[in-house]
Amino acid sequence: METIESSKIMQERCDAFRLSGQTISLVPTMGFFHDGHLELMRAGKRLADQMVVSIFVNPIQFGPSEDFEVYPRDMEGDLSKAQDVGADYIFCPSTEEMYSGGFQTIVSVQEVTKHLCGLSRPSHFEGVTTVVAKLFNTTKPHLAIFGQKDYQQLTVISRMVEDLNMGIKIVGVPTVREPDGLAMSSRNSYLSPEERESALCLKKSLDLAENLFRQEEYNAEKIIAEVEQLILSHASTEIEYVKICHSASLEDVETVEEKSLLALAVKVGQTRLIDNCLIGKTSGNVPDSNS
Ligand code: PAJ
Repeated sequence: METIESSKIMQERCDAFRLSGQTISLVPTMGFFHDGHLELMRAGKRLADQMVVSIFVNPIQFGPSEDFEVYPRDMEGDLSKAQDVGADYIFCPSTEEMYSGGFQTIVSVQEVTKHLCGLSRPSHFEGVTTVVAKLFNTTKPHLAIFGQKDYQQLTVISRMVEDLNMGIKIVGVPTVREPDGLAMSSRNSYLSPEERESALCLKKSLDLAENLFRQEEYNAEKIIAEVEQLILSHASTEIEYVKICHSASLEDVETVEEKSLLALAVKVGQTRLIDNCLIGKTSGNVPDSNS
């Protein structure tokens, strides 16, 4: 495994692979690996000849009052985990390398970014699409792997790739969870033991909605009300949103159908957590365009 910090050198390596007919997969990350990240890498390894894993905590996708400065970092641990799953290259540029003095270009997806997390994090997705477009141009991947845990991000990236004819296959990987159901996230490390217990309300909410749907409750408003009640019955929780929406447009639906998306953002203490599921589709949970 080779670690590369320079975009130019990374590009040269990837150009050479393409010229020699080898396929490239890219797994973009912000590091502090957990098994969710590693599952993406296992897919990336299976699907291409050369796998590049990028580690870059991207300042422009964090809002001014968000956790960029304190975002957990562990480069040494990450390198060893990535090596164990067979990463061929780690691309870990500095902030200066990515955003040099004159940087002034933003990639912006217009509609699917307006809903869910876009409501409270207005420039977040522009930060994500801009950095991912840069990572795509640097590593020239044939395919790129993203987690369904960040369902909206996966949807936004798929839209960008389609709209800008990037010719990259976007592969979605189902959410990896702790044994008790909590979706793995680098931000789980912020939770105190009590908050960690309360955080289970996210997965319990998904299960509750799933059960209500199975009992033929199709009214989105009623399901949302029950889910909100469950979340608020847990200590230190604050709901940012509970939405049931169309799985492609991410627009709210009134009547829940199979594969409607239930998406949650909940603050537990100071930690903002998200989770989601496609209702009536308990296993798999990969958006249609990526399956
Ligand atoms: P990060 O939060 O590090 O996540 C990197 C990738 O891991 C994303 O595709 C995310 O959806 C996936 N992932 C995180 N937790 C997961 C879990 N429990 N199960 C499955 N996949 C999981 O998402 C980002 O970084 C950034 O926004 C990035 C795309 C790298 C752009 O900066």
